[in-house]
Amino acid sequence: MVPLVLVGALLVLTSRASGQSTVKWCAISQEMTKCKAMAEAFSNAAIRPTLRCVSATSLTECAQKLMNKEADAFAADAKDIYEIGKQATFKIAAAETNFDGEGTTYYAVAVVKRTNSAININSLKGKKSCHTGLDRTAGWNMPVGYLVDSGRMSVLGCSITQGVADFFSASCVPGAMGEAQSLCQLCGGDESGGHKCEMSSQEKYYSYNGAFRCLVEDTGDVAFVKHTTVGDNTDGKGESWAQGLLSKDYQLLCPDGTRSAVSNYTHCHVARVPSRGIVVRNDINSSVVYFMLKEGLQKSHFPIFSSMAFNGTNLLFSDSSAGFVLAQNEDYIRWMGWKYYNILKTMDCSPTDVPEFLRWCVLSYGEQSKCVNMAEAFKSKELIPSIQCVHGTSVEDCMQKIQNKEADVITLDGGYIYKAGKEFGMIPAAGESYTEDGDGSVYYAVAVVKKGTEGLKRFDDLRGRTSCHTGYGRTAGWNIPISLLIEKGLIRPQQCQITQAAGDFFKASCVPGANEPGFPSNLCAQCAGDSSGQNKCVKGQDLFDGYNGAFRCLVEGAGEVAFVKHSTVFQNTDGNGTDSWSISLNSRDFQLLCSQDNRAEVTQYKQCNLARVPSHAVMVRPDTRPHIIFGLLDKAQMSFGVNSDSDFKMFDSSKYEGSDLIFKDSTVGFIGVGEKKTYEDWLGQRYTDALIAMECTLPSSAGLCSTSLLLVGSLAALASVLAV
Ligand SMILES: *[C@@H]1O[C@H](CO)[C@@H](O)[C@H](O)[C@H]1NC(C)=O
Ligand SMILES: *[C@@H]1O[C@H](CO)[C@@H](O)[C@H](O)[C@H]1NC(C)=O
Ligand SMILES: *[C@@H]1O[C@H](CO)[C@@H](O)[C@H](O)[C@H]1NC(C)=O
Ligand SMILES: *[C@@H]1O[C@H](CO)[C@@H](O)[C@H](O)[C@H]1NC(C)=O
Repeated sequence: MVPLVLVGALLVLTSRASGQSTVKWCAISQEMTKCKAMAEAFSNAAIRPTLRCVSATSLTECAQKLMNKEADAFAADAKDIYEIGKQATFKIAAAETNFDGEGTTYYAVAVVKRTNSAININSLKGKKSCHTGLDRTAGWNMPVGYLVDSGRMSVLGCSITQGVADFFSASCVPGAMGEAQSLCQLCGGDESGGHKCEMSSQEKYYSYNGAFRCLVEDTGDVAFVKHTTVGDNTDGKGESWAQGLLSKDYQLLCPDGTRSAVSNYTHCHVARVPSRGIVVRNDINSSVVYFMLKEGLQKSHFPIFSSMAFNGTNLLFSDSSAGFVLAQNEDYIRWMGWKYYNILKTMDCSPTDVPEFLRWCVLSYGEQSKCVNMAEAFKSKELIPSIQCVHGTSVEDCMQKIQNKEADVITLDGGYIYKAGKEFGMIPAAGESYTEDGDGSVYYAVAVVKKGTEGLKRFDDLRGRTSCHTGYGRTAGWNIPISLLIEKGLIRPQQCQITQAAGDFFKASCVPGANEPGFPSNLCAQCAGDSSGQNKCVKGQDLFDGYNGAFRCLVEGAGEVAFVKHSTVFQNTDGNGTDSWSISLNSRDFQLLCSQDNRAEVTQYKQCNLARVPSHAVMVRPDTRPHIIFGLLDKAQMSFGVNSDSDFKMFDSSKYEGSDLIFKDSTVGFIGVGEKKTYEDWLGQRYTDALIAMECTLPSSAGLCSTSLLLVGSLAALASVLAV
């Protein structure tokens, strides 16, 4: 206690020194009486700075007064802070806190029955859902916002209720009477079936306990409630329908796809709902306000967290709070957390926020024709926003047009994604997927070794060893592994002399295509030549050329490591190999060397790789809402995707001049960007590093580099090659 008093005493001094003798608290209408009483109590207890009350009619007005320096501080709940953050600038000084002492009101969770093992956060589509009520926090805004923001649920044109109705097979969402029918389908009403789907306790599945009951009675597969709901209705607690229920029979769905005990809610939740925050003016010292409140709580005996004496509820502060905590971060978005902020932002969208048109930037006559047909096709299904086509003279021109708001959207591959993000501030809104699992990558670049190889745990252990590469200048076989060696500091090319440095690092290699004058000859030493032993190290002719060739080079012992893609091993082992060298290979006899310097099984390529080569992304200006784009494309692919028998097909360019028009022809569907919200997140650190490292080899960088490199032109052109 003594140190606290000392801090308090110091504070009085410093706050006076910094000129903060009063804090002007903004109170809304009936809060004024409580505020004045609090100011008096604080004054009687000699709390400094002194508290003065300023009256306003709304939080918005409080925010305005803050900006005009007519007020210094007020408390508001996180959702209101999000709202005022759109116009005003301010800091968060502290937060109210109740049960956990960390400024959390509660956690929004997704509960399932333990026995229903088929369900996780990624498999909710088509399931039956129970919600506390329309527009309620834990039962609606948090889970729906989370599912949309994470790219799991698509919504056409911000019609969120329709999106939910399309996503779940049936639901009970009390209060959704005027919305899609399936949203009330699971509701029960009262004993005689009346009041069905009403937002009142006459609906038996209303609110927290009701939503949980909806799950308990097997009406729904998942219930969206708060972290205390299961405990309130199990292990002897709750009403008659809850008798005999055991908390261990229920589990939470975690964002990482796992499930957890209901007690693990701090780690396994849909969203954390922050407590109310103390908003202060930017030039106010946060700790001065925090210590004023804290001291007031300790010394004044004023009932800060009670409104009873003032004929109201939650006046100035929440009646259920118990104390204050200093804000970990004064920036309001960081204070509330990006996840919560993104959820609010996703839900903060009404049909009027949807633009009328989406102008797609196209580059060729073929793309233009496909785009026009796409616009017509989408229109026939009433998809919004409607598509318009804008012609750009080059990819850069399109990026410029999008930045200038003369166009809105373009599909780009790796290197152009880098340029669009770095130079034009664009963000990904959706991605192409080339596999059914929606992984969002083209492939993973891996380093394969034989299981028995000793002493090969780290990349540094490759020094002085033999290696097999798909070819000179190729992505998985050359650019990515070599850039990793550079990045790890294992090779230090002088003046971009990368081949020289690589030749010095490995004892001997097979790098088909490295048979060029001036290149170290050991880069070709391990090659085999064609079947007659001719054309050694010649691209396309050496037996060790390409993915399968590099793997064969490893298998036949010419190299101790092969740089290939993750699928190469599976294509040549376990009976998939058809050539004499591969026919009896077993995938279990091979392992991967990870960029994190450890080894793993070949099946673990998602964790153990040198880089993930990202798929093409649909890129937009940062003021475009990504889920509007994803919502449109996801709905469109149902009519015009891979399995459609429609005239227009999104992933088929054969009717037009060219291939991969607007979208890659090998696309099987779109995926939401989820957590990969920036171009850097989309590309991934390793792949971006590879782009940057290999940029050194381009003629444009000071002209020092070998011009024989396959990759010429801009960094973007380099990456286009990388992504092939
Ligand atoms: C709690 O959930 C997290 C996130 O899924 C998980 O990593 C952790 O192992 C869980 N803890 C327990 C005790 O189950
Ligand atoms: C804010 O006040 C604290 C004392 O509570 C003091 O230590 C700190 O230096 C002040 N900060 C600024 C920026 O004046
Ligand atoms: C609270 O309400 C009661 C009865 O309506 C009234 O007598 C009392 O004056 C009110 N108190 C305050 C502080 O407004
Ligand atoms: C390889 O064969 C297995 C079955 O032995 C099969 O499941 C797998 O899809 C094949 N992989 C490739 C890449 O052909």
